[in-house]
Amino acid sequence: MNSEQRWKRKRSYRAYSRAQYLSVRSVILCSCFLVFLLFLSTDRLPIRTVSFKPVLGVSTLSLLSRNSVSVQDSINRGLFHFWPLRVDERVLFPDHVLLMVSNRIQRTDALDCVYYKVLNASASDDVRVQVRPLVSTDEYDEFRWIARCPLPPTNYSATVDLRRRGDAVVVAEKHGWSLRDNRTVHSWERMAYAAVLDGNTTVVFVKGLNLRPHRVSDHRFFRCQFGLGNLEKDEGFALVTEAVAAAQEVVRCLLPRSIRKNPEKAHGIRVTIVKANNRVQGDHNAMNSVVRIRNHRSLGQRRNRRMYRDYVPIPSVARIHNPRVRRTYEQKSNQRTYEQKSNQKKYELCACTMLWNQASSLREWITYHAWLGVERWFIYDNNSDDGIQEAIEELNLQDYNVSRHNWPWIKTQEAGFSHCALRARNECRWVGFFDVDEFFYFPRDHRHGLSGQNSLRTLVANFSSSETIAEIRTSCHSFGPSGLSSHPLQGVTVGYTCRLQSPERHKSIVRPDLLNTTLLNVVHHFRLREGYRYLNLPESAAIINHYKYQVWETFQAKFFRRVATYVVDWQENQNTGSKDRAPGLGTEAIEPPNWRLKFCEVWDTGLRDLVLANFADPATGSLPWERPHL
Ligand SMILES: *[C@@H]1O[C@H](CO)[C@@H](O)[C@H](O)[C@H]1NC(C)=O
Ligand SMILES: *[C@@H]1O[C@H](CO)[C@@H](O)[C@H](O)[C@H]1NC(C)=O
Ligand SMILES: *[C@@H]1O[C@H](CO)[C@@H](O)[C@H](O)[C@H]1NC(C)=O
Ligand SMILES: *[C@@H]1O[C@H](CO)[C@@H](O)[C@H](O)[C@H]1NC(C)=O
Ligand SMILES: *[C@@H]1O[C@H](CO)[C@@H](O)[C@H](O)[C@H]1NC(C)=O
Ligand SMILES: *[C@@H]1O[C@H](CO)[C@@H](O)[C@H](O)[C@H]1NC(C)=O
Ligand SMILES: *[C@@H]1O[C@H](CO)[C@@H](O)[C@H](O)[C@H]1NC(C)=O
Ligand SMILES: *[C@@H]1O[C@H](CO)[C@@H](O)[C@H](O)[C@H]1NC(C)=O
Repeated sequence: MNSEQRWKRKRSYRAYSRAQYLSVRSVILCSCFLVFLLFLSTDRLPIRTVSFKPVLGVSTLSLLSRNSVSVQDSINRGLFHFWPLRVDERVLFPDHVLLMVSNRIQRTDALDCVYYKVLNASASDDVRVQVRPLVSTDEYDEFRWIARCPLPPTNYSATVDLRRRGDAVVVAEKHGWSLRDNRTVHSWERMAYAAVLDGNTTVVFVKGLNLRPHRVSDHRFFRCQFGLGNLEKDEGFALVTEAVAAAQEVVRCLLPRSIRKNPEKAHGIRVTIVKANNRVQGDHNAMNSVVRIRNHRSLGQRRNRRMYRDYVPIPSVARIHNPRVRRTYEQKSNQRTYEQKSNQKKYELCACTMLWNQASSLREWITYHAWLGVERWFIYDNNSDDGIQEAIEELNLQDYNVSRHNWPWIKTQEAGFSHCALRARNECRWVGFFDVDEFFYFPRDHRHGLSGQNSLRTLVANFSSSETIAEIRTSCHSFGPSGLSSHPLQGVTVGYTCRLQSPERHKSIVRPDLLNTTLLNVVHHFRLREGYRYLNLPESAAIINHYKYQVWETFQAKFFRRVATYVVDWQENQNTGSKDRAPGLGTEAIEPPNWRLKFCEVWDTGLRDLVLANFADPATGSLPWERPHL
């Protein structure tokens, strides 16, 4: 028996005598383990749930059943409509319930959220039901779609279900289980929410560890638990490995030995973090036992089991994503296709950005920076509802390589950047982290009359073989409303031309393969691997025009729900000294007097002139991102 393997499914077998228990246990243990081996050694997809269900029960093989649902789905689209919607996870956010669903949800599907209230706990069919329209649906990863539901009405459970509009609500039989089952509702503040495969390790993104901000933490407090079934309840199989790095919301663990040689098998496996609970954490002896466990490869060994019980797994919705697996649902086939980028030439320069409702800024930002040499785009979208998917599809039709990743988690900008760095690593030599209101500009090139085309890519490529430089920093000029009072139709680069004199902060372009294993980053700067350092570009060579204080209408929208680490809602009276806030603005959402002339110390038309010279249509003068306005 594999010693890494652990089995704690006592609950169901409490009634058996010890002897019976042991024999039943070992038979089931063996057969389950064989299934798990099968799981690891096959491509998993052809496995049908039904044949295993009677042996194992639903929770143990829920992952298998999920896959088979999606296989069934794509094999037989005709039956899709009759397949019940299956809610895998529910995450309770402050203003909505996020559901993860393993069925393909079409944007056009008319779905409702179903809420339950138990009137009499001892009679499972005495249940009140309410139905509310869904808020939105979206793609999440290659395994799941997300649906957002309003918060439950008073006294109704957050164990929300979905149904197709028009379907009858079948309470007792179909949904009785979910009423009795609180486990599937997670708090957004405490859970593992994403995981990415990286060589023979996996990087797990987790909330609720409360690690020190901006520091590397002691990884010896953590383990990763991989497996099938319900990880929180410690049911089903779990393989446990040690963490090798931890910082902020990111914990990196080795893969289980059984799949380390073939990491592709990890794709889709559930994972969570196990940490020492408070009682153990301050205890000196407990620290030693942590170290002792570390020294034993086989965590499942009997003598470690008791110690291990002192550790509490964090709830998890995370399933390991292999960045080399292309998303397949668009191809209407469950054949996995692997990106061959690692063998091919990598892109020299890519960009990662996180945004919310900035679809209208995207075209100018991408068109301009593609001209500067950015080849590939990773957009982390925090719940936009402004048609960003359509904007991206349009750009892709024009051969820009843009992909959108749904990133619904709260206060996770740094984690999102770490996640993006991992995804980009396989495809890109350099990755820039900057926002959609920030535009690189090379004043010197312009003055010498150079076109500037591909200048950013040329600049970073010059350092691609450097043995010391792994990050290039560029400072930012903050532009003000420049006297305008409505959004400039020709775009921000042409419209805004007055700024503060001194640069504020800087943004970085990094080599994703030369980051510290913790992926620690603070305000757009990553901790680099030892032996590497950053280079500050002189202001005279390169600058970022940051269109930070735009016309009031735009500024207000941006700061109302800001995608930033420290200031989430600018009306909250926090971080009032932060440079993320507009100086002197306070916490009121009221237009300050004379807004359009604020933040204007020097006129700077450099980028405007460059853009007009290179992008404007010679006949009409219009710019490629300009929309005919009605
Ligand atoms: C709750 O249900 C049980 C079992 O059906 C029943 O005996 C009991 O009277 C019910 N209680 C109330 C308050 O309705
Ligand atoms: C919710 O439940 C509490 C306690 O059972 C009750 O006092 C309250 O009236 C209920 N509220 C609603 C809106 O049903
Ligand atoms: C569900 O949660 C409620 C209160 O949070 C608790 O009273 C109840 O026992 C829980 N049910 C189960 C099955 O865990
Ligand atoms: C993991 O991979 C790295 C290099 O890719 C190697 O140096 C290291 O020894 C491997 N670790 C294990 C435990 O296999
Ligand atoms: C986008 O990516 C595809 C596949 O990697 C590639 O064939 C294509 O040339 C790329 N397009 C651009 C504009 O870089
Ligand atoms: C996404 O938006 C929400 C507001 O709905 C905000 O609380 C959250 O912090 C944002 N996410 C990130 C990564 O900033
Ligand atoms: C390339 O980098 C070297 C230093 O590594 C620098 O001296 C040189 O000016 C750079 N060339 C360009 C075109 O940036
Ligand atoms: C990452 O940073 C930590 C803390 O500074 C350091 O101990 C570790 O050696 C670094 N790892 C690498 C690969 O540079």
